[in-house]
Amino acid sequence: MTEVIPAKQPIIRVRGLRKTYRAGEVDVHALRGVDLDVKAGEFVAVVGPSGSGKSTLFHILGGLAAPTSGEVWIDGESLQKMSDSERTEMRQRKVGFVFQKYNLLPTLTARDNIEIARYLGHRNGPVDASFNQMLDLLGISDRLNRKPSALSGGEQQRVAIARALVNNPAIVLADEPTGNLDTENSTAVLGLLRQVNERLGQTILMITHNPEAAAFADRTVSMRDGRILE
Ligand SMILES: Nc1ncnc2c1ncn2[C@@H]1O[C@H](COP(=O)(O)OP(=O)(O)O)[C@@H](O)[C@H]1O
Ligand SMILES: [Mg+2]
Repeated sequence: MTEVIPAKQPIIRVRGLRKTYRAGEVDVHALRGVDLDVKAGEFVAVVGPSGSGKSTLFHILGGLAAPTSGEVWIDGESLQKMSDSERTEMRQRKVGFVFQKYNLLPTLTARDNIEIARYLGHRNGPVDASFNQMLDLLGISDRLNRKPSALSGGEQQRVAIARALVNNPAIVLADEPTGNLDTENSTAVLGLLRQVNERLGQTILMITHNPEAAAFADRTVSMRDGRILE
């Protein structure tokens, strides 16, 4: 079956996505048929109460988990038609991840946390101007020799954003990026994501249960009980 892909296809396309977890004797329907299109360059916030399926959607979009049924296309390529190694390759080339708990390696400096991601993305050459521009934008240029324990939560999240951006991914997926931050640091991190989107051009899909965070996005999508509300 061949499919005609329109010239200006969405960078993220989701159709009929369902995910059912088996928890002991019961089935948990985390996603109950999600359709979503995200245009290249868009900054989309996905909001919804705890348990509505946001993180499940995040993991499937990033190729970190498989749906029970339905399909996801990233840049026109179906994740479900890829082999595991193709999906890993896609993820390393095209997607940057930001997590609520930063997920930095505690024994490495900020610089090495970023460098490891560059290495995994097969970018071993010298850093270029855009890399330094990104570090300046994030305001962490003078923090790179510190380990995570010597950085504030807000600084750790900025390092995590740098790590997500180091391979110049087309898409940044962020799951509750301000969930562990106070109001001031939340606003700063959200403002940075906004600037990353505007200046560096990344498509951003940010999951949040904070309705105020959604104000930084171009568009908000609401989830409830595994579905997107219109
Ligand atoms: N690994 C899992 N096994 C069983 N149930 C899960 C698992 N992960 C999530 N769930 C359930 O799926 C539903 C959606 O969870 P999740 O996607 O984490 O929602 P959110 O991120 O919006 O809080 C919840 O009912 C949650 O308990
Ligand atoms: Mg979640």
